[in-house]
Amino acid sequence: MTDRKGIILAGGSGTRLYPITLGVSKQLLPIYDKPMIFYALSALMLTGIREICVITTPQDRAQFERTLGDGRQWGLRLVYVEQPSPDGLAQAYLLAEDFLNGAPSAMVLGDNIFFGHGLPRILRAADMQTTGGTVFGYRVADPERYGVVDFAADGTVRAIVEKPAVPPSPFAVTGLYFLDGTAPERARHVTPSARGELEITSLLESYLADGALSVTQMGRGFAWLDTGTHASLLDAGNFVRTLSDRQSQQVGCPEEIAFEQGWIDRDALLAQAALFGKTQYGRYLKRLAGETGT
Ligand code: DAU
Repeated sequence: MTDRKGIILAGGSGTRLYPITLGVSKQLLPIYDKPMIFYALSALMLTGIREICVITTPQDRAQFERTLGDGRQWGLRLVYVEQPSPDGLAQAYLLAEDFLNGAPSAMVLGDNIFFGHGLPRILRAADMQTTGGTVFGYRVADPERYGVVDFAADGTVRAIVEKPAVPPSPFAVTGLYFLDGTAPERARHVTPSARGELEITSLLESYLADGALSVTQMGRGFAWLDTGTHASLLDAGNFVRTLSDRQSQQVGCPEEIAFEQGWIDRDALLAQAALFGKTQYGRYLKRLAGETGT
């Protein structure tokens, strides 16, 4: 485990999910039994990260604070930073610069959901790489909706292209970025794109130009779920429901990860269980704490 810190980028206008997101942030919408942001949080926790900066819009900040608190219930330290307007993903590194204080980071988009056997292993491998950057490539049917990896004939990465009309490969770059301590400084040199945003792909290009970017493939054993449309939002919820019902195990449960890592004790776990009462989630936490018959 390194001194890497986490960022969850949970701002944005959510217009693609209107009218649902007229009154509530996208990243707080339910994915089956828990708020969407729990899944992104879980990915950082599985990496071993305990200090996390949550970036929200000014108007949604209070709801995020109400949902996540200061992170103590999971043995974490959460801090909140506001992004006044959605000026691009790379801006997160400028907003989080003081929080990072030179440390390497893992940034996850608050609307990304990862699942798969072996996920902690690939996350921890990326964590061990404390210079340069690591991103994850995932094969999708519709790469034109994402940042896409352009591979040279020898398999090395030539470029990362944002939403290309003609995708150079079927491999999308997921919303999880492991970057070293130079990210804020590099972000300062990113200029706004034609759509007026500080693009994450421009920041990644800076690493690529220095030969300092690795792309790890997330193979077919992993799920990287889309929450970008009404239909995919429902599909993601059904996916989580199917898995957790079938196995009687939670997906993206911060209490479970914190307990397994020894960040919270049994009493803290039971306190959370009490908070969730007779819900399936609450019963699950009791079971983890070894209380049977629940
Ligand atoms: O999900 C992975 C994709 O995420 C990557 O493949 C793309 O390279 C990357 O640009 C991004 O694409 P999206 O089309 O999903 O970007 P979007 O503008 O929708 O922003 C992603 C999330 O970040 C969204 O939940 C809103 C939030 N966001 C976005 C912007 C531009 C912010 O919090 N602040 C922002 O300034």
